[in-house]
Amino acid sequence: MSLVATTEDCPASRTFTLSYVTDRLILSCQPTHLSLTGIMDQTIVIFGASGDLTSRKLVPALYQLFQKNRLPKNCRVVGVSRSPLTSAEWQQKLEATTAEFSGASFSPSGWNQFASQLHYLACDINRNSDFGKLRDYLDKLESDSPSARLYYLATLPHLYTQAVTQLGVHNMATEGTGPRRVVIEKPFGTDLTSAHQLNQALHNVFGEKQIFRIDHYLGKETVQNLLVLRFANSIFEPIWNRNYIDHVQITVAEELMVGRRGGYYDSAGVLRDFFQNHLLQLLTITAMEAPPRFAADLVRDEKVKVLQAVRPLHHQEFSSHTIRGQYEGYRREPGVSHDSQTATYAAIQLQIDNWRWNGVPFYLRSGKAMSCRTTQIVIQFRKPPHLLFGDGSTDIGANRLVIQIQPAEGIQLHFQSKVPDGGMQPRLASLDFRFQKGYSKQFPDAYQPLLLDAINGDASLFARSDEVELAWQIVDPILNAWQNGNAPPLELYKPGEWGPATSHQWMQQFHREWFDVCPIIH
Ligand code: BG6
Repeated sequence: MSLVATTEDCPASRTFTLSYVTDRLILSCQPTHLSLTGIMDQTIVIFGASGDLTSRKLVPALYQLFQKNRLPKNCRVVGVSRSPLTSAEWQQKLEATTAEFSGASFSPSGWNQFASQLHYLACDINRNSDFGKLRDYLDKLESDSPSARLYYLATLPHLYTQAVTQLGVHNMATEGTGPRRVVIEKPFGTDLTSAHQLNQALHNVFGEKQIFRIDHYLGKETVQNLLVLRFANSIFEPIWNRNYIDHVQITVAEELMVGRRGGYYDSAGVLRDFFQNHLLQLLTITAMEAPPRFAADLVRDEKVKVLQAVRPLHHQEFSSHTIRGQYEGYRREPGVSHDSQTATYAAIQLQIDNWRWNGVPFYLRSGKAMSCRTTQIVIQFRKPPHLLFGDGSTDIGANRLVIQIQPAEGIQLHFQSKVPDGGMQPRLASLDFRFQKGYSKQFPDAYQPLLLDAINGDASLFARSDEVELAWQIVDPILNAWQNGNAPPLELYKPGEWGPATSHQWMQQFHREWFDVCPIIH
């Protein structure tokens, strides 16, 4: 559904747009040509068209959106990479992968309709003349009517700056005939300096409002649900603070090993691959204050305040407040150095210095080759101040809220209950909410809502430049300390375990325990 109407609320040169996007009603008041996004033509230009991300994620997500009738009516996709392919060859290649990643929802006739809008142009980002050809190609495609454009950088990260600069040189970022937006995949830099340089390169060509730094964790329904859980209910906020919460654990465990990505992973490691982006994003959403409205800058202002309040680690804390591990066999993975010191597992204790969180540690951890795939946020509440039951000395366990982001999405609340026919003996019981049971709808892949938001110019779920740099300011000192010997020992762990054994002793020294349950909800 898309409805466009002028109202008294909008100046004459602007239109008031109400559109229905990913089950949300979006109201906006924008300059006339921008508000036409939903109904004006759209060109999505994917740099890195022959890569894995395009075939596994982007094109299947666009295909699903097309099937759900959520894309603008005239939406074309132009793939750009160096491989010498024709449009027909690119379409053919993508048909197989889209069928594989779309499962039962794939239909050959639907694909044929969608594929007729897929175009391909071989282009070397480093070659000036190729970019000129790309500009002319796009102008010709769009010659019938003005079109919005979304440039998606899914290419090798070291080419981002060059691609953006070329877009500027060829005047392809100017919003004369419609919006021009750019989406940038992670990794956004490899440290604070490179992230800052990339931001500068982007700002030389695009305004911040045109830039969409993607973190696919923010596209996950359960991550967005965390905002709803916190800010659309009144029962959680009063206890969501240092008065009731003892600590928070955020875990992203993967069963997967590095596989074919050894070359990239060995230079990145778990801090760059997971902490700087996904884990810190989960932290900000768990810890942020309620913004006045759900609007891009207001949401991001609150997230930025959390990052600003994260207490930097100092001196011996780099080794005492962090843990490093590497799974056995990692050094034999293709592309990995035989004496690699890269961590495939890490845990870090962070403190947030503000009124809400003072004294509440946040434990962040992530690892490859762990015992199972689970992403969960555990809100561990304090124990009751005084025990009435038992002899008063028994540890009965405190309340806990487990928010399971994946694989099975849901929430579990742990609370004390009376053991029947057992006197006044308390025991921890649980209440479950499973999305699968509550809603019949299939969860969309994270790229679907994010692509749609980028097309519609809604940056609420994308990182702003200051946010990305602040995240690096937290991770960079740890990386530097580790590199310069101020690090905990790199402990080996067997694939299929919850990281190194020392990780449990590490938690015990803080008088806490990891919540190691392989998906609590199935
Ligand atoms: C990517 C990381 O950002 O996220 C990968 O680079 C990781 O190492 C992947 O496997 C995990 O994503 P998801 O959505 O499967 O949790």
